[in-house]
Amino acid sequence: MIPLCIPEIRGNEWNYVKECIDTSWVSSVGSYVDLFEKKFNEYVDSKRAVVTMNGTAAIQLALIALGIGEGDEVIVPSMTFISPVNAIKYVGANPVFVDVNRDTYVLDVEKVEELITDKTKAILPVHIYGHPVDMDSLMKIAEKHNLYVIEDATEALGSKYKDKMVGTLGHVGCFSFNGNKLITTGAGGMLVTNDEALGERAKFLSNQTKVTLENKAFYHPEVGYNFRMPNLLAAFGVAQLEQIDEYIKVKRDNASYYNELLTAVKGITVPVEKEWAENCFWLYSALIEDDYKLTRDELIKVLSENGIESRPFFMPIHDMPPYKECKHGDLTVTNELYARGINLPSSVGLTKEQIEMVCSVIKK
Ligand SMILES: Cc1ncc(COP(=O)(O)O)c(C=O)c1O
Repeated sequence: MIPLCIPEIRGNEWNYVKECIDTSWVSSVGSYVDLFEKKFNEYVDSKRAVVTMNGTAAIQLALIALGIGEGDEVIVPSMTFISPVNAIKYVGANPVFVDVNRDTYVLDVEKVEELITDKTKAILPVHIYGHPVDMDSLMKIAEKHNLYVIEDATEALGSKYKDKMVGTLGHVGCFSFNGNKLITTGAGGMLVTNDEALGERAKFLSNQTKVTLENKAFYHPEVGYNFRMPNLLAAFGVAQLEQIDEYIKVKRDNASYYNELLTAVKGITVPVEKEWAENCFWLYSALIEDDYKLTRDELIKVLSENGIESRPFFMPIHDMPPYKECKHGDLTVTNELYARGINLPSSVGLTKEQIEMVCSVIKK
């Protein structure tokens, strides 16, 4: 089976993790936790990074740190993995669903303003499958209406918007190190921000708002959370981060090769990269149009019969039972992309021959 997207583990992971075990520094305090935050912060070029136990927790933490809560509205795409929407719900706020662009698959900035009400507190763009949202245009709207922007960059680590790393363009950015992501820690996440005070607050909240008094007693001035990542996983993350440039190069080269082989296939629309964007191509994602011989679901079945794993685009969240009643704008493109979109194998370890095999099944 050619898998959809599996981790690549061939660097210092074992050495660093072994060091944690050998020294007993396995839990949530340790030098690798600090080092992972420092190195990640340097990599994306932000002011403060706070590591968390997963990407969903990073988003929840961002919302809490910004004071978003009961009754507030947060504008978010419906075409996303469910995490950011659930995180909005966890803090008592209400998601308001916005449509996406047909070519980039990400939040359609032109459809945001009509959804803003006096309850709107934030916009939560998701850089889905790797392509960045048009952040300058989005930030202009946010500034005009005095809204926070929390970037869900979980699928776009290493993607750039006008030479800047995604996740650093809004007020807060969130990343995931789940097993299928560009780099992994098994499970993990990171919050980044250019607002140092906000970063400190996020760190404080993520550690049960713990203050150690002079007599060594713990004092907690507010309700806090345990969103920490153990040193053991941070060590793994440091090793993964050392290899990130190579991973991105491979993903981008693989996407070019897919494009080369699929562009001329009737009924397949290959992914775009806007002139202001550099896509990490976390998951290579294409559209199956009406003039292709099979429907998208039929193609997924044929690929599977040929030992190739693929997946449809995310089912819209406004169709899920907990979110059916939520406010939303026109979601025509979201619904269309769910019917047409397909993710093809995109592991860093994918070979040229495997890409050729996937494309030859699609052509046939
Ligand atoms: C778009 C998106 N947001 C958030 C997450 C949450 O990350 P995690 O699984 O680390 O909680 C993921 C991935 O799993 C995701 O794809």
